[in-house]
Amino acid sequence: MSHANPNAGYALELKELRKSFGKTEIIRGAELAVRPGERVAIIGPNGAGKSTLFNLISGRFAPTSGEVLLHGTRIDGKKPYEINRLGLSRSFQITNIFGKLSVFENLRCAVLWSLGYRYSFLKFLSRLEDANERAEKFLQMIRLEKKRDVLAVNLTYAEQRALEVGITIAGGASVILLDEPTAGMSRSETARFIALIREVTEGKTLLTVEHDMGVVFGLADKIAVVVYGEVIAFDTPEAVRANARVQEAYLGSTVAEAQAGGGA
Ligand SMILES: Nc1ncnc2c1ncn2[C@@H]1O[C@H](COP(=O)(O)OP(=O)(O)OP(=O)(O)O)[C@@H](O)[C@H]1O
Ligand SMILES: [Mg+2]
Repeated sequence: MSHANPNAGYALELKELRKSFGKTEIIRGAELAVRPGERVAIIGPNGAGKSTLFNLISGRFAPTSGEVLLHGTRIDGKKPYEINRLGLSRSFQITNIFGKLSVFENLRCAVLWSLGYRYSFLKFLSRLEDANERAEKFLQMIRLEKKRDVLAVNLTYAEQRALEVGITIAGGASVILLDEPTAGMSRSETARFIALIREVTEGKTLLTVEHDMGVVFGLADKIAVVVYGEVIAFDTPEAVRANARVQEAYLGSTVAEAQAGGGA
């Protein structure tokens, strides 16, 4: 992205981040520094604050204190669309898809958005052809060529999630947040979806919240363990697996299950 500050070093940074709802502090001094191109899985018990972290990063909530930096630029307190414009995209459980547009049209909208069509109608016209070509490319990338002209609302759940990731990439995001992207998918859909994510997010910075340990260890370069509003560990999967504090706080049984071949 043109917004990248080459001196920043990190794609995304959380510094001493805090968030209270009423009197209850939910995020309690979270720290994280993610390098460009890293794929990070965020794990942790229910209610630990994983989705709240995403809400703080994406601008849905302003933090009570602390900083969020995107490519070295402060984004805490900015509006979601402003943050999106700076190259960060978050997928929601209720998706960003336009149900009444076709798969192709959804992708083309995202491409046009990334080209900045809003600023000039002439520029828009001159780039329309280019946008069509790019949208076709993204359509292939998410392997929905056969569903090209199907209304998005008529896709299967897994297909909608794939389209959503496609929209994110087509929209030019460099940092992508996915909150439990495989929730509600079958085992085979999950496997296919993870392979797809690996492929289409190549070179992008990815943060994903995930409960399925098979998925976590298959996808992530690094794992961030969130417990009670803090990042208690941030390291390679091997190191996190071996981390006594993580074992104690959270991981022990789930990792043992995944290693035993359960994968879930
Ligand atoms: N808007 C809000 N107002 C008040 N409390 C909230 C709000 N959003 C989240 N919380 C509380 O913050 C805590 C953390 O919630 P969060 O959804 O971030 O957890 P999580 O780690 O994503 O959990 P899960 O794995 O179940 O999705 C919970 O106790 C939740 O009830
Ligand atoms: Mg959550």
